[in-house]
Amino acid sequence: MDMTRPFMDHGGNVREYRERWGGDPEDLADFSANINPLGPPESVRSAMRAALEEVHRYPDPRQEGFRRQVAERWGMSPDAVIVGNGAAELIFLLMFAWRPRRILALAPSFSEYEDAALAAGAEIHRIPLRPERGFVPDVGVLMDALGTGVDLLVLANPNNPTGVLWDSASLERVLDEAEEAGVRVLLDEAFLDFCSDEQIRSQIPRVGRRPGLFVLRSMTKFYSIPGVRLGYGAASPDVIRRMEGLRPPWSVNGVALAAGTAALQDEAFAVWSRRWVIEQRRRMVGAFGQLGFSVTDSKANFLLAWREDFDIGRAWPRLARRGVFVRDCRTFVGLDQRYFRVAVRPERDQERLFAGLRTDWPGK
Ligand SMILES: Cc1ncc(COP(=O)(O)O)c(C=O)c1O
Repeated sequence: MDMTRPFMDHGGNVREYRERWGGDPEDLADFSANINPLGPPESVRSAMRAALEEVHRYPDPRQEGFRRQVAERWGMSPDAVIVGNGAAELIFLLMFAWRPRRILALAPSFSEYEDAALAAGAEIHRIPLRPERGFVPDVGVLMDALGTGVDLLVLANPNNPTGVLWDSASLERVLDEAEEAGVRVLLDEAFLDFCSDEQIRSQIPRVGRRPGLFVLRSMTKFYSIPGVRLGYGAASPDVIRRMEGLRPPWSVNGVALAAGTAALQDEAFAVWSRRWVIEQRRRMVGAFGQLGFSVTDSKANFLLAWREDFDIGRAWPRLARRGVFVRDCRTFVGLDQRYFRVAVRPERDQERLFAGLRTDWPGK
């Protein structure tokens, strides 16, 4: 097995990790995918088991039940909600519905925005996020860029791979400015569930008065169902209709819909997860600090870590041999061998990660 090859665009490729890790596959510590390790909650597991009994039937092609539930949660009309086979499906549908000519994206960020925009024929214009600013967007630079012929702005709140949240006032200003400049906005809130004030921070309730805004949510990270796939989005009913018209029927399966319905009802799991992530993230930030690594001020369930003399090309295979898998960030625009991303995971896995790092990069 070639342990030196650079690594894939997404984390969580457990099949490949199993091949690379000679040990017990059950004992693999996967920090590379940003999945909540507390889930899926039992409520979701049992809903999925029950839904398996129904797989001989087609799922509801309009996802009425789950769509209504999402709409009720946010106090909006079901016509303003679209349900997707993961948030990823909705990113692609939106790009084909809107067909932007030139998108404005921040870098580093999730690669799928650019992949989908390119597939739909758009050009990409990027604004770098700088480590010396803590990867916080420069609002002035962003505002100026809105006037350079872009017709779609893509933002993530919080951003991946940094976990950095938008300050609400700055985000409001950028959304106002984009509206004024006639630039549409895709706002990705895939990881916002991990923030305790997500209901206040979310822009979903604002889509009614911002016709050029699409807000995206994922159910796969927080509820730990990436293998089942479920996401949703909110926008004006006109945008939703155009997206619906572009996709094949039944793209969201019945097991995913049952999982989503149970998930949104499980408030206890949500509260527990948020508390646990904050506590474990704080612990990991402390351990990174002791080893001389900088980390982002993440409000999500992952951290971007770096150190000047770090080399992920050397570290990755060494960690992999211990069954520890982290996200090599060299595939993110603007990041290099000094950077890697880790999900927030239980203490036992953290011990293995930090023991592995300490061997080659002891504290300074
Ligand atoms: C920022 C961001 N948005 C969207 C997605 C897609 O999520 P889903 O699994 O719901 O397709 C991901 C997946 O990694 C992501 O990191």
